[in-house]
Amino acid sequence: MKTRNSAPSNIALIKYMGKLPGLDNKPTNGSLSYTLEHLRTTVEISEIQSQRDQWAPLIENGLSRLDLSQKGQDKFLKHFDFLKKSWGLQEKYFQILSANNFPSDCGLASSASSFAALTRVSSEHFQHIKKIQNGNDPNFLSQLSRKGSGSSCRSFFSPWALWKNEGAESISLNLKLNSSVILLEQGKKEVSSSEAHQRVLTSPRFKGRIERAELKLQDLIRSIEKEHWKESFAIIWDEFWDMHELFHTSQPGFAYMNKTCREILSHIETQWKKTGHGPWVTLDA
Ligand code: DP6
Repeated sequence: MKTRNSAPSNIALIKYMGKLPGLDNKPTNGSLSYTLEHLRTTVEISEIQSQRDQWAPLIENGLSRLDLSQKGQDKFLKHFDFLKKSWGLQEKYFQILSANNFPSDCGLASSASSFAALTRVSSEHFQHIKKIQNGNDPNFLSQLSRKGSGSSCRSFFSPWALWKNEGAESISLNLKLNSSVILLEQGKKEVSSSEAHQRVLTSPRFKGRIERAELKLQDLIRSIEKEHWKESFAIIWDEFWDMHELFHTSQPGFAYMNKTCREILSHIETQWKKTGHGPWVTLDA
């Protein structure tokens, strides 16, 4: 018996960057994201006769072949082990196949869709084996998924998700976006998001970050509700620079921006200044 399903990625407009002490990805500040339905991870699970769980890439037309590092595989399987324990299935072993329909590890939040898909498909598969608690409750799944990778907890709600504490929740904003991803390089990033969460704590700019982010979160929600698009743009713009300045001023500092990226940002900024209109833009890690 095989179970297969997928989950989408999401892009944060107010970012999750910085974790509270502990090992379970609790954020220092609330975040707001838009779900990217077209960027998805597919996961397939089947039971195997083995003494350990195994991961392999799902190879299929239309899906890009996942080249997960050993560290990436360990993180994924560790989360699966946690899911098995949460639902009392630690005696059984499974094969997990997964693939994205977009490139991974280059800033497109593949960990969000991967961990959300793993959590969702595990709950579905386990329900075929035994009766499990809260297996269809998106708020519960979101809380479990957060423990694997924080940003994945927002992928259970669409189109908007708000995440403050244990898990994300749906937030009703009367706005659908047309989203485009500009991908400038497909190379793997040198500093992972998990590492970035640690390093930003060393930046002198982290002082006041939590208050700044919480204020922007409230202001952004209000500006969307009032349909003040220019104000929303300004908040989203300020927010991604805030996060990237934390990266640039960490000890040691690091950056995800290249020359073309800066040129595109400057072009968009000029368009807003000249016309008072333009796209919202954000830049992830
Ligand atoms: C920059 O969720 O990848 O994309 O919890 O350590 O797995 P872990 O980190 P991750 O962090 C993503 C951070 C971000 C901003 C965001 O999505 O809010």
